[in-house]
Amino acid sequence: MIQLIQPVWQEKAPGVWSAVVGQPKGVTPLSAADCKPLTEALRRMGGAELPFARDEVQVEALAGGGYLLRLPLAEQEKLFGLGLQFMRMNHRGRTRYLRVNSDPKQDTGESHAPVPFYVTDRGCGVLVNTARVVTVHAGATVRADEQRADAARDRNTDRGWQATPVSAYVEIRLPAEGAEVLLFAGANALDTVRRYNLYCGGGTLPPRWGLGFWHRVPKLFSDREAVQEALEFRRRDFPCDVIGLEPGWHSRSYPVTYEWAHDRFPDPRSFVAELGLHGFRVNLWEHPYVSPEAPLYERLRPLSGNYTVWGGLAPDYTLEEAQVLYCSQHEEQHVRIGVSGYKLDECDGSELTNNSWMFPAHAQFPSGHDGEQMRQLYGLLFQKMTEDLYRRQNVRTYGLVRASNAGASSLPYVLYSDLYDHRQFVRALCNASFSGLLWTPEVRKAQNAEDWVRRMQSVVFSPMAMLNAWGDGTKPWSFPEVEHIVRHYIKLRMRLMPYLYTAFARYRFDGTPPFRAMPLVLAEAAEASGGADGGGGMGVPASRTDASAAGPSAAVVENTTDGAYGKTKAKEWDDQFMVGGDLLVAPLFAGEASREVLLPPGVWYGLETGERYDGGVIVTVQSGLERIPVFVREGAVIPLMPALDRAPRAGEKVPLDIVHFGDASGEALLYDDDGETFDYERGQHIWRKLVVRRNGDGSLTGEISDVSADESGGSEVRQHEAANEAGSAGDFYTYDSVQWHLGKRSLADLI
Ligand code: GAL
Repeated sequence: MIQLIQPVWQEKAPGVWSAVVGQPKGVTPLSAADCKPLTEALRRMGGAELPFARDEVQVEALAGGGYLLRLPLAEQEKLFGLGLQFMRMNHRGRTRYLRVNSDPKQDTGESHAPVPFYVTDRGCGVLVNTARVVTVHAGATVRADEQRADAARDRNTDRGWQATPVSAYVEIRLPAEGAEVLLFAGANALDTVRRYNLYCGGGTLPPRWGLGFWHRVPKLFSDREAVQEALEFRRRDFPCDVIGLEPGWHSRSYPVTYEWAHDRFPDPRSFVAELGLHGFRVNLWEHPYVSPEAPLYERLRPLSGNYTVWGGLAPDYTLEEAQVLYCSQHEEQHVRIGVSGYKLDECDGSELTNNSWMFPAHAQFPSGHDGEQMRQLYGLLFQKMTEDLYRRQNVRTYGLVRASNAGASSLPYVLYSDLYDHRQFVRALCNASFSGLLWTPEVRKAQNAEDWVRRMQSVVFSPMAMLNAWGDGTKPWSFPEVEHIVRHYIKLRMRLMPYLYTAFARYRFDGTPPFRAMPLVLAEAAEASGGADGGGGMGVPASRTDASAAGPSAAVVENTTDGAYGKTKAKEWDDQFMVGGDLLVAPLFAGEASREVLLPPGVWYGLETGERYDGGVIVTVQSGLERIPVFVREGAVIPLMPALDRAPRAGEKVPLDIVHFGDASGEALLYDDDGETFDYERGQHIWRKLVVRRNGDGSLTGEISDVSADESGGSEVRQHEAANEAGSAGDFYTYDSVQWHLGKRSLADLI
C-alpha cells in the first residue's frame, strides 16, 4: 500500500510555492546562503502558472523511511540544470545522484555543485532545499500500474526500440527526515530561472576589476617573483587585473595556516600595496583544513568535526563562534592590508573516488550536523562567510570556489575544476546558467598553440577570464607564435567591459543570467516574437533549412544516429551560448576549423568578420585560429571602453564607445556605478538607455535616454541631465565622453 501525503503549498512570491515534507532538520542551502528573496522584483515579474495543477504533485511516504516526490512530465519535456554538470545538458531519461564530488568524471549527476534544482522547457522549476544527497529520476522510471500497453518492444526487429523508457514522471527520493520543496513557475525556462535567481536574492554583481584578466602564479612564488611576473604583463602590453597566489603564500599548506610565509612574503602589506600601485589586486588561495601550526588551531579545535583532512581540522562553520574566529583572522591578516578576495579550494571532496581525502559522510560536527550535510554545503558556507567579511567593509569581492549548491546566485564566486576537457568546460558554462552558478573554463596549459588559443578564446567569454598557472608556470605569451591572438582577445574582453558589467547588473536586479545556455536563449527569442515555442523544440528546424536564406555558409543538418538499432539523437547545442542579450559565442576546439552554429531568429553579423547571416537556422562557419566565431544581433547597441591594462577604479573616468550594428533601429541598457562598493544598493547607480533610431531617410541617430523602473529591473533611477549633446556622457560614474559608431557590420576596425 502506497501512503500518499498531501503537501500543503504556500505561496512565497508570485509564481513560487513551498511545501515542507516530513520534519527536515538543520542547515539547508537556502539557510546557509542566507537567501533573501528580492520580493519587489518578484512581484514585478507577476504571477505565472505551472504546466500542471499543484495537486498533481504527489508525495509518498516510503515503507523503508523517507519520501518520494512525483511530478508530472510531458512526453517531450526536457529537463535542465541540477548544478554544474559536465556531461550533458538535457537530463531527461537519466537518474542523477546529486552528491558533491571533486572529481566528477562520470555521468552520474555528481558534481562540484550538485544543485537540487531543475527547470524544464515548459517552465517548471523544482528545488529540494536540503543539505542531503538527493536522487532525481528525471523521467527514468515507469511503474507497473502505469505501463503503457505498447511500451514493451522487440529489440531484435523493432528499430524504434529505445533504451530509455518514456516516463511520465520525475521522481525524487527525499531525505529520510524530509525536506522543503519549492516550485517555480514561468512562461518558459528563462522566466523560471529568473524567478529562482530572484528568490535566492538576485544575481551577483562583481566589482568591475573582477571582469578583467586574472593570472595565478606558480605555487611557490615569492613576493619578488609575483611582482616581476605582474610587471611582465605591463611590459608586454597584456591587460591584467588580478594576481592570484597559490598555496605557497601560507606558512604551511595542506593543511593551511592562513598566515603569510615570512620567508617568501616578508612584508605582505608592502607587497599588496606595490601590486596595487601597478593596478593589480591580490587573490589568495586557501582551503578549509586548519594546520596544527595555525594560531587558530587550538580555538577552532572544539568547534571542528571528529575527522581530520590531511592532518588538519575541518571546522564547523555552521557555528557562529567558528565563523567569527575565521573572519577576524582573515580580516586582520588579509582584508585590512588590501587583499581583494579568495580562491576557496577543496571544499568539495567525496569519499568513494580512488583519491579519497575528504572527511566521511558519517563524520560528526559539534552543531549536530553530519559529514554528508557539511560536505554538501561546505563551499556555500565559505562563500557566505567571505562575502559577509567584505560586505562589512563596504567592499565587493569576487573569487573562486570549487563547490557550491542551491542559493548561490547572489554570492560573488565562480566555480572551477581540476578536470580539463575543453568541450566539457564549455558545456559547464552553459549548464551553470540553469542553476544560479558561474563557471570559468580556466586555462592552465595546452597540448599545442592551437589548443592554447582555442581555450583562451573561450575563457575571455566567460564569467572569469583566468590563466591558472599554479602548476605549469604558463603565461599568456607561453606560445610565442600565437601571443598576438591571445593579447587581442584579452583586450577585446577589456573593451567589452561596459557590456559585460551591464549583463551582470541585469543578473543582480532581474535575475537574468549573464551567460545563457541555448534553451534559455531560444525561450527568450520565442517570447520576444510572441511565439508559443518555449525553446523546447529549440525554435529552429533541426533538419530542413532554407539554405538560400541563411547566408553564404548555411547548411542543412540531419539528426545523427547513435546505435545499431537506429535510435536518433538530437543535438543539444551545449557548445554555444550567449553573453548578455546580443552576443552569441560558438567556441572552436583544437582540431576544428569549422562548426555548426544554431543561430536564433533574426539577422546576425560575425562580430569580427562582418559577415551577414539570417538566423532561425543552423549555419556552418569556417574560422581560422585567429578568430573565435562570435555573432552580434542586428540592431544591437554595444557599449565599449578602451582596452586599458586594468579596469577603471572607483572615480576614474574613461571614454565610452557605443557601437550599433546593422541597419535596424535598436536599443540597449547601460548600467554604471562606482564599480567597487555596495553603495549601488543604496541608490548610487544609474541605468541609461542607448537608443539608435533609423529615420525616414535611412539615416541613423543615437541618443542616451532615461530608463523606467521596470526596464532597470526596478532599481532606483537617478535623475540626470539629458545627455545627447555630442561628446558628453552626462553624469555617469565611469564614462566622461561618448563616441557613437552607427550602422557597423563588425568590430574589426574598433579593436
Ligand atoms: C587544486 C586546485 C588548483 C590549485 C591546486 C594547488 O586543488 O584545483 O587550481 O589551486 O589545488 O595545490
